[in-house]
Amino acid sequence: MRYGEGLLAEIRQRTDLVALVGRRVKLVRKGREMWGCCPFHQEKSPSFKVSNERQSYKCFGCGKGGDCFKWLIETEGLSFPESVEKLASEAGVELPKWSPEDEEREQKKKSLYDVVELAAKFYETQLFDNAGREARDYLKGRGLDGAAAKQFRLGYSPGGNGALIKHLTEHNITQDDIIAAGLARPADDGRPMRDFFYNRVMFPITDGRGRVVAFGARALEADAKPKYINTGETSLFSKGSQLYNFATARAAAIKAGTIIVAEGYMDVIALVRAGFAHSVAPLGTALTEDQLHLLWRTAPEPILAFDGDAAGLKAAHRAAHLALPHLKAGYSLRFAFLPTGEDPDSYIAGNGPGAMTVLLEAALPLSQLLWRTETDGKDFSTPERRAGLEHALREIVGHITDGKVADYYRRGFDELVFNNFKRRTPTPSVRTPQRQVQGGRYRGDFKPRPMPGSPEAVSASVQGSALVRSGQAGARQAKEMELGRLLVESPEIALSEAESLAILDLSDPSLDRLRHELLNLAASGSSLEKAGVQAHFTRKGMAELLVRFAGSPAEDPQASFQRAIADLRELAGQKTDARRLLERRKALSERPGDGRGT
Ligand code: UTP
Ligand code: MN
Repeated sequence: MRYGEGLLAEIRQRTDLVALVGRRVKLVRKGREMWGCCPFHQEKSPSFKVSNERQSYKCFGCGKGGDCFKWLIETEGLSFPESVEKLASEAGVELPKWSPEDEEREQKKKSLYDVVELAAKFYETQLFDNAGREARDYLKGRGLDGAAAKQFRLGYSPGGNGALIKHLTEHNITQDDIIAAGLARPADDGRPMRDFFYNRVMFPITDGRGRVVAFGARALEADAKPKYINTGETSLFSKGSQLYNFATARAAAIKAGTIIVAEGYMDVIALVRAGFAHSVAPLGTALTEDQLHLLWRTAPEPILAFDGDAAGLKAAHRAAHLALPHLKAGYSLRFAFLPTGEDPDSYIAGNGPGAMTVLLEAALPLSQLLWRTETDGKDFSTPERRAGLEHALREIVGHITDGKVADYYRRGFDELVFNNFKRRTPTPSVRTPQRQVQGGRYRGDFKPRPMPGSPEAVSASVQGSALVRSGQAGARQAKEMELGRLLVESPEIALSEAESLAILDLSDPSLDRLRHELLNLAASGSSLEKAGVQAHFTRKGMAELLVRFAGSPAEDPQASFQRAIADLRELAGQKTDARRLLERRKALSERPGDGRGT
């Protein structure tokens, strides 16, 4: 270990733990010790004790406890060395340097931080200066005002090539340092040293302690190539091991219990401004293992919210496979899928923070994403293809190094394969529900629940005779699925068919909820026009239902609905008396004030 116990003891000794904890937890004196409500679990009466004498804190409710270093690690997401550095500097304890070379390197780095900070200040000033008008307009056009610019320390690098170099030189910064900070291209071919960034909106990138170490820079023109350029590797900045906005996001992430990973700087800014302070992005490259570990230091299941396009999907899959060897008990990833053509920035702008919350809550666990990736839109009509699937799934499990986790994955996949291909009561192909990405989002889950779709359709043809004998439950499920789709696509049916809908015997709890909600809407006299109903479901946090039953509109919804209902009753063993049903409907439509348009 880098720091000896003697040094750590000195820092502990000099740290006022009560004051440190007191920044986050309200403490009250009881006897010799300070007490408060534990920040690690929900409680009403204080069982969390902090003692300067013992140099430790402890919760008698949830058992969490430790010293000042542990406190910072647990509440601020710092690494151990970071916690030592922070407390040492607060307590005025000098940390030993390891060697003269190390010391020199540290010294160099220290001055480079100042150089980059000077540059950041320069760009900030330029944004609000005459030179920055176009950049200000650009940001305004993207919904970012002065306050937003200040919050993220956005700036502008002027054209004219050499403005920053001139500014830094006036502050006695050497050419070597300017180049070492990644702010200028060295002179070549007789050309003088040039600014690395010009005529771009500047996004300062900070390290874990909030110090500016690099920049991302966006061109103002829509079709500029490259759209963004970023500081190259420097002694302060390594793009693969840092994350945009991490310094501010990590405390928020610990509080929120999760952390959101978007693809772009603009996405992070939009997310933070919409209330998702726990948002970060990689820095112009695919997510790396280092970044994954950074994320896991703040939250057990980071949510990846990548763009709803082919590239975003690919990036998500890559991250999924990257994570496999690093999975351990409790630690995983989740995947939120944006509709096609959207990124978090555009999605929030168009739909608001509430819709974003719904989308994040519906994020798919890693295990489900992997299953989806292997099965979605694929045809398993031959034994060889099914064997191929089992092989692919085994290979995925083979990449998981944690034995316990691998074991659960294996069991989960086995169950899914069993339910889809080996069950004795497969779902017949009454109508194959859509199983592709819908609205940019996947559906399905890891529970051992029969999954409707092509695999069952395949099972149906392979195990045809077994199906005829025992396909009732599956047929019913498929019919209910169909009914759900009809209701989502043509909710007005719930008005004209309220009665038959109300007395229907349903086995799918989601469909039951959908019915319940639609009938309530109908009873309250609300319009059952599709857009309004969808907005209502989204507002009430039930967008999952819309996704689950998403489909394409039926040609004659009314007729399809009546057919589906009749089929369902038959399947439920309620032998349909078609005439009786017709009569009831007729009576209903003749009732004054009933039906549509009331
Ligand atoms: P995107 O192209 O999704 O950018 O790239 P964006 O954030 O949506 O940008 P806007 O909204 O058009 O301004 C995502 C991230 O990939 C990196 C940047 O970090 C960017 O934020 N990137 C992209 C580059 O480094 N260079 C590029 O040319 C493009
Ligand atoms: Mn984007």
